[in-house]
Amino acid sequence: MKLKALAVFGTRPEAIKMAPLIKILNKSKEIGCKVAVTAQHREMLDQVLSLFNIKPEYDLNIMEEKQTLSDITIKALKGIEKVIIQENPDIILVHGDTTTTFAAALASFYRGKRVGHVEAGLRTDNKWFPFPEEINRKLAGSLADIHFAPTKKAKQNLLREGVSPDTIFITGNTVIDALKVTVKKDYTFSTALLNDIDYINKKVILVTAHRRENIGQPLKNICKTIKRLAEEFTNLEIIYPVHYNPSVRSIVFPILNGNDRIHLIDPLDTRDMHNLMNRSHFLLTDSGGLQEEAPALGKPVLVLRDVTERPEGVEAGTVRIVGTSQDIIYREAKKLIVNDREYNKMAEAVNPYGDGYASERIYKSLLYYYGIIKERPVDYLPYTV
Ligand code: UD1
Ligand code: UDP
Repeated sequence: MKLKALAVFGTRPEAIKMAPLIKILNKSKEIGCKVAVTAQHREMLDQVLSLFNIKPEYDLNIMEEKQTLSDITIKALKGIEKVIIQENPDIILVHGDTTTTFAAALASFYRGKRVGHVEAGLRTDNKWFPFPEEINRKLAGSLADIHFAPTKKAKQNLLREGVSPDTIFITGNTVIDALKVTVKKDYTFSTALLNDIDYINKKVILVTAHRRENIGQPLKNICKTIKRLAEEFTNLEIIYPVHYNPSVRSIVFPILNGNDRIHLIDPLDTRDMHNLMNRSHFLLTDSGGLQEEAPALGKPVLVLRDVTERPEGVEAGTVRIVGTSQDIIYREAKKLIVNDREYNKMAEAVNPYGDGYASERIYKSLLYYYGIIKERPVDYLPYTV
């Protein structure tokens, strides 16, 4: 009889990173996989489900404007418990660090089920940054039975916390699997504006910022610096797909509206996003996923946070932590705009995060864990990081 897996996720990045694994499980003879979404995100989740043609068996549809973390946790916990009772899966697969991830892992534990944690072990070791993701990921990790660590560092973090090495597999990050499918050389964007940008004569800066801990003064600082850059450097096109969170939009639009060189657009379809990244000069972002994708494409990233749980890109030199103060963001962005030597130093395509086969390794690890294959999959160890 086939093993029964239930993949649970709720937000855009989880969907992007779980999609390649679901595709593989759907073809498997040994493991059957059903999908439950909490829909902690709605439009931004649906964009990804449609791109990867995933039709969830369960949709809890929990998103509401301005709901608190406790609201999300309670609704997700109760909803997922019902799905687990109905489906009775052998293993629940969760991803990363969202509140859906934590709630799904907790519901699974309460029902005595095993949990597989994809993208396990990333840490800043600072409880408040990123908030609440650092703790969500830790809690999910302590509830998990099998840990799919994307890098060696992530595995080391888990070992340090006492996790048994037998249960940790280094797989690479599934985001690179997704990127391999989406990025094309002669890509035509589905968002018309993006086809009209002059990528050759202009320097395109791609911006995203949505983190909870940045909402307020830090996001205002970020926006004011973007405005200053656009006013000072006439060869820039700044493209900012703005997250649907009303608390983000109410800060971003009043500061950045009305400048010809700043394009405030709705969140992009992931294929558009990945290809835009591929054509941009550099990125300004507080996102986690973009810190993994951009190095693979050789695009410098200035990270609008004080700490990162993804140090591999920083060590490789493609990613620089710049925080959220206006002076430092301006100084570092200016360097990448005017100084080719500085730019070229960072614009090295490096890929500490994966080779496009992470989902395959996760699948094999599951088969090994359940004794279906005898040989342990080889860890993904690209080089020293
Ligand atoms: C969530 C995750 C964060 C992840 C991010 C990815 C938590 C606590 N946070 O943060 O880890 O980095 O997703 O983007 O799990 N909204 C819409 N439509 C959408 C999506 C969001 O309108 O498709 C609005 C809603 O009003 C919603 C709000 O954005 O209430 C915030 O969404 P929420 O999932 O609570 O937090 P994010 O900041 O998106
Ligand atoms: N992304 C997207 N459209 C956008 C912005 C981001 O498809 O308009 C993708 C991006 O390429 C990456 C993921 O969403 O794969 C990152 O999601 P987000 O920044 O929301 O979350 P985080 O990674 O910070 O948890």
